[in-house]
Amino acid sequence: MYALLRKLLFRLDAEFSHHLVFSLLRALYRLPGVGWLLRRQTPSLPVEVMGIKFPNPVGLAAGLDKNADLAPLLADFGFGFLELGSVTPRPQPGSPKPRLFRLPSHRALLNRMGFNNVGVAQFLNNLYQWEPTCPVGINIGKNQDTPIEHAVDDYLSALRAVYPHADYVTINISSPNTAGLRELQNQENFDELLRALKAEQDALAKTHEHYVPIAVKIAPDLDDNQIAAIATLVQKHRMDAVIATNTTITRPGLEGERLARQAGGLSGRPLKELSTSVIRRLYGHLQGKIPIIGVGGVETAEDAWEKLIAGADLVQIYSVLIYEGPGIVREIVEGLANKVTASGCATLTEAVAKARNI
Ligand code: FNR
Repeated sequence: MYALLRKLLFRLDAEFSHHLVFSLLRALYRLPGVGWLLRRQTPSLPVEVMGIKFPNPVGLAAGLDKNADLAPLLADFGFGFLELGSVTPRPQPGSPKPRLFRLPSHRALLNRMGFNNVGVAQFLNNLYQWEPTCPVGINIGKNQDTPIEHAVDDYLSALRAVYPHADYVTINISSPNTAGLRELQNQENFDELLRALKAEQDALAKTHEHYVPIAVKIAPDLDDNQIAAIATLVQKHRMDAVIATNTTITRPGLEGERLARQAGGLSGRPLKELSTSVIRRLYGHLQGKIPIIGVGGVETAEDAWEKLIAGADLVQIYSVLIYEGPGIVREIVEGLANKVTASGCATLTEAVAKARNI
């Protein structure tokens, strides 16, 4: 059924399709019984990461639901967790349109959305309407017009606002579509940012009598030295997880593709190897001391498994949803559950540990 819908949607502009689907789903979901019909049962494949119990390791990546508009429905697709956002302290329109492109023959998307979002106050309003049925991460970014030297203030104010409402908070310093943002991954800036975030997290944990983990989301376009420096600093500042990776500014395998010249971040199949290689190198430094959430080009259970073996503890997906529809969530979780059964292990964590040692 999704194949038919996709045929229609792919005739329309990519961002228009996105809003159309969101509006349709929101309207449909209000009808009695539709939620039940859309609900997908995924096998139970529990895993504990950052002290959080996830029903399965396959999450929604940030960027699809930037405003917490559709969280209950997305949870019903069978995800093990949702990462909502990126949300910025103040609302902003994002980059001029067009800013989202499909590359169907490469199973990829190219975007320069630029953190279009309703701002943290409205985001939380939307989130309040919902009783979460799976863990929820909230991904925060800085406003476009905040000078990079004041970026820390934006992250701190967003962290304070979302802290009581999130199971974990992601610090997004790797979107290629906000000028200067990725400079925050450079050693000196990163050290200062993480120090400030850790101090704020400690203070918030006392105030709320509840510790909320912080994950840092990094780019795939980092060299070995940058990855090593990031690994050192996330350990020094006791971050709770690293999410690898965001979209790439490179264009692997896209020679001769007209749209490849568009500015923005590339996601989907062409990102897969790059992102897995960052996970592998990062894991080489972290050795499991800090968990990794693997994201980039996961289309199948095999791709998810590859990321887990490379060092990830959880995975996330985005682009494949546009190409395959929501049924893909169950397919991936089922495939992973079969791997666990075939390994003879009782849990995913044991099966992955066994496979990593081979
Ligand atoms: C994204 N992504 C993203 N990431 C993030 O941290 N904050 C964001 O706001 C967004 N926005 C966004 C919009 C669009 C249109 C896309 C396609 C992607 C990146 C996303 O979370 C993920 O890291 C990459 O898309 C790689 O995963 P996939 O798509 O290859 O599974």
